[in-house]
Amino acid sequence: MGQLRVAVAGGTGRTGKEIVRYLNAEEGITVVGVVARTLAGKSMSVVLPDLGRDIPIFGDFAELCAVHPPHILVDFTTPQAAKQHFYQCLERRIHPIIGTTGFRDDELAEFATACSRAQLGGAVIPNFSIGALAMRQAVHAVAGLMQDVALLESYPRSKQEIPSGTSQRLASLLTAHRPELRREIPIHSVRLDGVLPQQEVRFGGEGETIVISHLVSDRGCFGRGVALAIKNIPRFAALVQDLEYLI
Ligand SMILES: NC(=O)c1ccc[n+]([C@@H]2O[C@H](COP(=O)([O-])OP(=O)(O)OC[C@H]3O[C@@H](n4cnc5c(N)ncnc54)[C@H](OP(=O)(O)O)[C@@H]3O)[C@@H](O)[C@H]2O)c1
Repeated sequence: MGQLRVAVAGGTGRTGKEIVRYLNAEEGITVVGVVARTLAGKSMSVVLPDLGRDIPIFGDFAELCAVHPPHILVDFTTPQAAKQHFYQCLERRIHPIIGTTGFRDDELAEFATACSRAQLGGAVIPNFSIGALAMRQAVHAVAGLMQDVALLESYPRSKQEIPSGTSQRLASLLTAHRPELRREIPIHSVRLDGVLPQQEVRFGGEGETIVISHLVSDRGCFGRGVALAIKNIPRFAALVQDLEYLI
């Protein structure tokens, strides 16, 4: 495939606009449009004055598809909107890459079935940052050596779900890695304005602890993972839920 045509749903939001900024500068990717309701009809230069080109904002994904059909949709909206976008993508054979969090396990299972049935690659990735991926790999290395584990997370109050999608994914990876623990891994959540998003995994042993921590200081950190996912998703014919497979 030559130039990949990408649409960004939620491209005017806190995370989405940083994704648009990153993808706009990425070779091999053209951002053809953004989906968001409030600024529909306007251009992304309203949100990102330094963008250097006009990216149109559409109030509805179907409308965008009629004018600028994309190969891939990247979504940072809400679980309700993202779910609708996901199935609209499959109908049109557009690869959905969903960064939006807050899906139930049964919804994720339905997404997986739908992708396999359509034989189309899609992704639902709760954390696109490369640092969070490095943290998961470090957790994997430590998990087999320590007896006890707990997850801690801090986010501003604007974070919708408790616990975060990242904590839920970490807990399920730890449970799969340590089936002998045979109990739920505790997740301690703080919601407090002013804090930066932070995920922590604490391991306890005999008279010692290890802490693996990841802090987001700039939402631009999600851009590289999204760009890699975009470039690799056309190779898949199923749902991908871990960034590891896409880089
Ligand atoms: N996977 C990751 O690495 C990662 C990283 C950061 C955040 N997230 C997740 O990304 C999501 C968005 O977070 P955020 O903080 O960026 O939110 P936000 O600032 O509230 O932005 C949400 C965006 O979605 C748009 N939107 C909402 N409902 C819509 C609808 N029905 N149709 C079209 N557009 C709609 C909003 O525009 P309008 O309201 O104008 O429509 C806005 O552009 C959350 O689920 C968050 O947890 C994931």
